[in-house]
Amino acid sequence: MLKLDGKSLASLRETKLKDELANLLKTKKRSPCLTIFQVGDNPASTVYVSKKVQACQRIGILPQLIKMPRSIEENDLIDKIVSFNRNPDVDGIIVQLPLPKNFDTFKILNHVSPEKDVDCLTSLNLGRLFAGRPFFFPCTPSACLLLVDLAYWVASTNKYIPDPPRKDLSGKTVVVVGRSTLVGKPVSLMLIDRNATVIVCHSRSACINSYLELADIVIFATGCPHFFSSKILKENCIVIDVGISKKEDGRLVGDLKIESSQLLAYTPVPGGVGPLTVQCLLENVFAAFKRNVEKTSSY
Ligand SMILES: NC(=O)c1ccc[n+]([C@@H]2O[C@H](COP(=O)([O-])OP(=O)(O)OC[C@H]3O[C@@H](n4cnc5c(N)ncnc54)[C@H](OP(=O)(O)O)[C@@H]3O)[C@@H](O)[C@H]2O)c1
Repeated sequence: MLKLDGKSLASLRETKLKDELANLLKTKKRSPCLTIFQVGDNPASTVYVSKKVQACQRIGILPQLIKMPRSIEENDLIDKIVSFNRNPDVDGIIVQLPLPKNFDTFKILNHVSPEKDVDCLTSLNLGRLFAGRPFFFPCTPSACLLLVDLAYWVASTNKYIPDPPRKDLSGKTVVVVGRSTLVGKPVSLMLIDRNATVIVCHSRSACINSYLELADIVIFATGCPHFFSSKILKENCIVIDVGISKKEDGRLVGDLKIESSQLLAYTPVPGGVGPLTVQCLLENVFAAFKRNVEKTSSY
């Protein structure tokens, strides 16, 4: 049973991206820039933001962290986002979620320019994904698909490479548990586009185990710690566990409890989907930068 090391795959892809960027920068006058808006001081958000900032710095993307107090007015936050939309030296903009409860997240995210929306959370970019004409791919769903590709590749070669071949999922049954806009829905769409047959379950689904028993691949994205058991899954099933929750003893765990050894592959928590999600963000910033500098020949 393979433990899919998301950190290693992220590191291989990071090295490749760093080289590509260094090559591109030989003829450009500025580096890519990612602006991150953080409102309030949610400790988990601070950890995630600092991981993103450090990853940017490692490869040569300029991170610009805009921290704002929880007391900021919604319209002031929007005005700030709009001013960064207009700045030609900013390639990507993200708003760290969750925002404090009094903010209208949907409204705020939709003020990010779709061309800089490297998290792929604006309605326009989600609509483009739905229509099969994506401008960016959302980061966590992209990480999930990369890990599926890695599972098939490593199972047959026992090697890690930065770009495992894209697996056609014709004939495969995939169960996605979770239907959020951030993970469950977009990953389901992307799996359909890979020819998989997709079953989406959520908190109102009855008998989820009866669907899980059919799955060749499962994507868990509920945030319910150790809620599901590996015992009911098929032989050679691939499990991608997006969930991250803190147990009472402080340990971080996923949605799945590994209690058997019949799986083909699974992602650990931590060290599976998380590091690759950050890497996919860097790749989107790089793509935005390339589009931006190609458009503006003076750069
Ligand atoms: N590793 C990463 O990079 C990364 C990135 C994003 C998220 N995450 C983690 O992934 C998890 C999910 O994130 P999210 O943003 O998608 O969360 P979310 O918005 O809270 O959505 C959770 C989804 O799971 C469903 N659900 C909850 N309990 C369930 C149960 N017992 N059985 C079946 N479905 C259930 C919910 O159903 P309803 O719709 O019916 O409520 C909902 O659709 C969290 O632990 C989060 O921290 C990790």
